[in-house]
Amino acid sequence: MRASVTAHKEFTVAKIDPRLYGSFVEHLGRAVYSGIYEPGHASADEQGFRQDVLDLVKELDVPVVRYPGGNFVSAYNWEDGIGPKEERPVRLDLAWHTAESNQVGIHEFADWAAKAETEMMLAVNLGSRGLDEARAFLEYVNHPGGSYWSDLRRQNGREEPWGVKLWCLGNEMDGPWQIGQKTAAEYGRTAFETAKAMRAFDKDIELVVCGSSTPNMPTYPEWEYTVLDYTYDSVDYISLHMYFENHEQNTKNFLARSMELETYIETISSVIKTIKAKKRSNKDVYISFDEWNVWYHSAEQDKPVLEGKHGWPHAPALLEDIYDFADVLVVGCILNTFIRRSDVVKVGCLAQLVNVIAPIMTVEDGPAWRQTTFYPYLYASKYGRGTALDLAVDVEGYETDFANNVPYLDVAGVLTEADGGLSFFLVNRHESEALDVELSLEGFAHSSVTMDKVIGGYALDKTNGPDEEPVAPADGNDASIVDGKLSVKLAPLSYRMIRLK
Ligand code: AHR
Repeated sequence: MRASVTAHKEFTVAKIDPRLYGSFVEHLGRAVYSGIYEPGHASADEQGFRQDVLDLVKELDVPVVRYPGGNFVSAYNWEDGIGPKEERPVRLDLAWHTAESNQVGIHEFADWAAKAETEMMLAVNLGSRGLDEARAFLEYVNHPGGSYWSDLRRQNGREEPWGVKLWCLGNEMDGPWQIGQKTAAEYGRTAFETAKAMRAFDKDIELVVCGSSTPNMPTYPEWEYTVLDYTYDSVDYISLHMYFENHEQNTKNFLARSMELETYIETISSVIKTIKAKKRSNKDVYISFDEWNVWYHSAEQDKPVLEGKHGWPHAPALLEDIYDFADVLVVGCILNTFIRRSDVVKVGCLAQLVNVIAPIMTVEDGPAWRQTTFYPYLYASKYGRGTALDLAVDVEGYETDFANNVPYLDVAGVLTEADGGLSFFLVNRHESEALDVELSLEGFAHSSVTMDKVIGGYALDKTNGPDEEPVAPADGNDASIVDGKLSVKLAPLSYRMIRLK
């Protein structure tokens, strides 16, 4: 099958915000304890952070990490995680039916983030708590000194404020599973008042208001309409979440799910524009897609803990999806969608980073290892920063019962101004046919292929593990440029990343 693509220098989508490639660490399962933090591990540093995990996080070049939740934040007291470690309380975490030792709190996480060379994106608790807690936390984190909370931070060993820019006003407040769930109107008012208080402290912070937890919520998309009606002029982003599953084991459908993501983004982008017009506002609100991933492999094994059958265990294995090759293709298509919609999606967080639905896994007292999905995330994060190109794509498509004309070729292109390169991220969704891609480079002088990485040729259910990582990129060898046209053959069901100069 043939596919023709045109990239024109003058046809661009937007400058990509590097934070599109962020991630997420929640106090959930083994994300923190025996994930990023394991005192006593052979690679642990003086603070107990696993150096092997830090190395993998740095390899991914993660620009921002959301913390501390997730559902966890909606019943979290951030003050439990400050002060001498031996005096910190153990609390029952109602979101995941576990016990939280609070051995890692804001100081430790901030130190870890600095070591990981990433920025923090913090969430405040608008479930069991509210405005007062939010303003105290913000003052603790961002005020230089001379006030109760900032002096307490200094007393606890951190002289300088951390200056965190990006703040989430709660988490998934539309969800019945959320501690302190609210109606859109209740949440809209609370978020507005909290934003007002937080902005009174610092008008330059960026605020993220909760949108829908999934487009399947019965309140979607009225939720966004109502919440933005209350908060439009006070916030910078509306957050969206979406997880992808393949319980039906239908590859065609699974690979087409990113089409639903496109519709989701398009719909909320329209709601944003509607409210902007209604308010006669000059400012723009963007999307923070701060939770996304494939999540379904671990659903059955998690049930006993989530149903309380194990009591209140501390840091049990939860949401430990072991990703396969099919997930590489889906994650590739999701990242391509974000690049193509980087005009409205400015922040993205792969949920999550370590052990919990994560590209990085650890064995307690053992090695850290890369899941299959590590690689499409790695390539987008490293080579997807710059200006997104508005590609014209001509290829056959297929039908599913939820999306029409799903293109066999999924592709995104980025001009990486920092080094003058061009990156193309390609997925062949066809299960049996190769795609002969001809990509016309209009107005570009790029004439050679500098990097060509292929992930393909595996059974769809092939996984990696702590002992071996068989699913990994190989070098492609058939991409060539002649007369401004890049030609490449994409094997059936394959992921490809090609860099040009
Ligand atoms: O990322 C796992 C969970 O998914 C988060 O805690 C929650 O926000 C979402 O439902």
